[in-house]
Amino acid sequence: MIRQLQMRDVDQVVAVHLASFPGFFLSFLGPDFLSLLYSAICSAQEGIAFVYLNDAGIPVGFVAGTTNPGGFYFRLLKREWFKFALASITPILHKPSIIWRVARAVSHPSGNPIGDDVAGLFSIGVLPELQGTGAGKMLVQAFLDKAKQRGCKRVFLTTDRDNNEAVNSFYTKRGFTIERQYESPEGRRMNEYWITLSKNLI
Ligand SMILES: CC(C)(COP(=O)(O)OP(=O)(O)OC[C@H]1O[C@@H](n2cnc3c(N)ncnc32)[C@H](O)[C@@H]1OP(=O)(O)O)[C@@H](O)C(=O)NCCC(=O)NCCS
Repeated sequence: MIRQLQMRDVDQVVAVHLASFPGFFLSFLGPDFLSLLYSAICSAQEGIAFVYLNDAGIPVGFVAGTTNPGGFYFRLLKREWFKFALASITPILHKPSIIWRVARAVSHPSGNPIGDDVAGLFSIGVLPELQGTGAGKMLVQAFLDKAKQRGCKRVFLTTDRDNNEAVNSFYTKRGFTIERQYESPEGRRMNEYWITLSKNLI
């Protein structure tokens, strides 16, 4: 039911992302932007990504991230900034005020940790109608197993602190602990979670 993300899955992963993250910034940037992002993770050596398939073999959940997260984003944006900028034009035309946020995302270093012993879990989503059925748990486990296999000692992720109790308790139950709290430039209060793989409690 779980296998590694393949390029042919990317369109469906984008659809699952849009359904599971309504109203989020990346969703607002739209399918072209998301497709570039997930394709890049899928084809990168550092990429760690899995899909959860339904009985018909269609991806209905996914998890995606990379080892050396800071280095990955830096190289990706340096190499493909033009494609990402191009994919952002339509959403910017719909809502010009997001231009500064897009510019910041494309031009500034992510601030993510650098190093092959760290992995970043950037995104996980399950179709809303299937949430709570165990898919997310299996996806996180697959991600942690792969990170460990690649020699990572720790995995980190960030999620909203406010109005996000189910997701925060989902990660806490998986053994993640909050090591930092901060406010994003947009004023979102965020939790930064880490897990040490040798102490993986799942
Ligand atoms: C977070 C998410 C990936 C979890 O996947 P999931 O398939 O729903 O999770 P699971 O069914 O594996 O549930 C795992 C645990 O979380 C709990 N849980 C999941 N969704 C919950 C909800 N909406 N409310 C309360 N508890 C919930 C389950 O009870 C279960 O607890 P257990 O460990 O005691 O069994 C999924 O809910 C989702 O896609 N959310 C929207 C996107 C999102 O916010 N992603 C995370 C951003 S950082």
